[in-house]
Parts: sequence; structure tokens; C-alpha cells
Amino acid sequence: MRIVRLDPADTDAARACHVVHVAAQTADDPAEPPQSLQVFSAWLRTGWGGNPGEVWFVPGEMDGDAVAWYRIELPDLENRDRAFAIPVVHPASRRRGIGGELLRHVLERAKENGRTVLDTVVLQGSAGEAFARHAGFTAGLAEARRMLDLRKVPAGQFARLRETAAGKAAGYTLVSWTGVTPDEYLERVAGTFNAMNDAPRDEGWEEDIWDAQRVRERADEILRRTDVRGYSVAALHDATGEMAALTQVEIDPGIPGWGYQGLTAVTRPHRGHRLGLLTKAAMLQWLAEAEPKVDRIVTGNAASNKHMIAVNETLGFELLEPGWQFHQIPVSDVR
Ligand SMILES: CC(C)(COP(=O)(O)OP(=O)(O)OC[C@H]1O[C@@H](n2cnc3c(N)ncnc32)[C@H](O)[C@@H]1OP(=O)(O)O)[C@@H](O)C(=O)NCCC(=O)NCCS
Repeated sequence: MRIVRLDPADTDAARACHVVHVAAQTADDPAEPPQSLQVFSAWLRTGWGGNPGEVWFVPGEMDGDAVAWYRIELPDLENRDRAFAIPVVHPASRRRGIGGELLRHVLERAKENGRTVLDTVVLQGSAGEAFARHAGFTAGLAEARRMLDLRKVPAGQFARLRETAAGKAAGYTLVSWTGVTPDEYLERVAGTFNAMNDAPRDEGWEEDIWDAQRVRERADEILRRTDVRGYSVAALHDATGEMAALTQVEIDPGIPGWGYQGLTAVTRPHRGHRLGLLTKAAMLQWLAEAEPKVDRIVTGNAASNKHMIAVNETLGFELLEPGWQFHQIPVSDVR
């Protein structure tokens, strides 16, 4: 079996990997649409968040085809002992050992890059989960998905929720922007990213520490490199000017009707003021006007993240099963 490194300039190879992605997504997870070619190709080339990475694929028998691929992320700031990858095999080529061989390749690349742990994520109950168990991975944190079907939301619901939340959030003012983070907020957005370090995660992970420069250089990648539209709503603390909460949603014009919830974080000193609900209700009101064609929003949270889940359920998000589950394996445990 040939496993070839993808040349970032090779758009045909990226397209071939996208065909595998679409077939796998349709077979494994029909509840959500596949990524658009534009977003997939941009992610394949450089990932999101600025971590170095490599893409490898298995060419098919016909010129310009692929049967499998993976992208390995090799964090360079924190978690430099870890690598992350999800090997994907075309559904028509499964159960022939391709996944196993690709995984051994992933582990070799991880080892060569000085990593000792490989992380992955699989859909619960999927072929991926059976494969991971067979390969010797250990299951970790479960990540529940939820979807908000905006067609089911009664008129005026978000305005009412926003008003209720605002009643408990005296002393805060909402601000919003589209696209990349404005310079004036870089430092404060970094603070809200750092608040994500309080969210549940598996042991052994180091915290990602953001500052203004890292936000400028490494956040908003998807907005800088694709046509994806980004919406951000933040709550500023009137007394100090601190950014107390932030919520972000992305809309890919290549996937009409769908919106993807990005980060939502409330910084520690400002928790307990309904700022999660306030910013998210304001976001949904805004999207109803700015993106009237969007009728579904998808979000994911650690299944144990009770506060965020309570906010999402108040807004009308419903469980979308199956959820995801993180898995890890020591790089030395190649079977
Ligand atoms: C998981 C995946 C990569 C497996 O690819 P594959 O080429 O079928 O894998 P292999 O043929 O090497 O399977 C190796 C073993 O995994 C287990 N396995 C794989 N798919 C399975 C399934 N659907 N049900 C039960 N066991 C399965 C079996 O033990 C299999 O050995 P066997 O066929 O001799 O019984 C493929 O299903 C896929 O792309 N899934 C979506 C992405 C994903 O979840 N990736 C895994 C991340 S770790």
C-alpha cells in the first residue's frame, strides 16, 4: 500500500481526499453534512489554530483518486508530547486492513516528531470506535453534540430569553463584530480563550495559553482563508472594560442552512451573571436577521459540562446522537 505525503499546492489530491471525506461523512454521520470542499481544503493545508501538521493519503487505482487519508496535528506551543489524527478510509475500501496500516503510519510520524501520545476522536458506536478499541486506544472524555432547529423556536423566544438574562446582568454591555477579531479586542479575546481551560478535559493535557499576538496570528484562521462568515458577540464589564463573555458562530456559504457554534466562554470573575445565556440569545437574535437562511445550529460540549449544557437546553438545543469520544494511545503501543 502506498502512503503519499500531500503537497499543499496539489489541489487535485485535496479534492480526492474530499471525495473520501464526503463518502465517509455520509456513511458514518448522516446527521451532519460533510464540509464544503473550500473549508476542507483550507483545513487540510494548514489546519486551524496554527499548529504544524502533515497530510498523508493512499492513492486509488485510478489517477486522481484516493481511498484513505489523515491529517496529523503536531502542536508546537503546548502539548508538544502529543499528536492528533483521525485516519479516514473510504467506506467502499474498509475492512481490508487499510485503516490499520494507516494508523501505524500515523504513529510512526508521531514518533518521528518526538511525540509520545496520539489522540483521536471517534463517533460513539461507529466503525471508528470499534477500530480504536481493536487498536488498543483508551477511551476518554465524551463530547455530546446538540442541534438547535430554528424552525421549531417560537417567535420572540430569543428576545424574551435575552431580556430575562439581561435582568441579571446589570453592569455589562454587549458588543459584536463580524470577521476576524478587531485589534482593540485581541488581548481581551485571548482572556476568554484562556477561560476555556476551565472546561472539562482529559488528564495529561496542558492548558493552551493565548495572548493578543497569538490571537492575531493563530485565531480566526478559517475566516482569513475561506469565505466562511464569522459572528462574535461579547459582554464587556462596564466598570473595568474587561471582556466577561464571548460567543462565536461560523457560517459556511458552501453548507446552506447550517451554522456552527464556535467557542462560548465566560471568564471566571464574571460567572453567575447569566452572561452565557445573554450573549448566546443575542447572537441568535442577530443571526435571525443577518443569516435568515440558517435554520440549524450545531454545538458540542463535554458531556459533563453542566452549565453550558443548561444554557444550550434553555435556548432549545436538543441532543444529536451519537456524540464524539476522545481516545488516546501511547505512540509506542503500535499493534
Ligand atoms: C475506522 C476506520 C479508519 C477503519 O478503517 P478500515 O480500513 O476498515 O480498518 P481495518 O480494516 O484496518 O480494521 C482493523 C480492525 O478494526 C476493527 N473494525 C474496523 N471496522 C469495524 C467495524 N465496522 N465493526 C467492528 N470492528 C471494526 C476490526 O477489528 C478490524 O479487524 P478485522 O477486519 O480483521 O475484524 C474507518 O471505518 C473509517 O474511516 N471510519 C471513519 C473515521 C474514523 O472513525 N477513524 C478512526 C479514528 S481512530
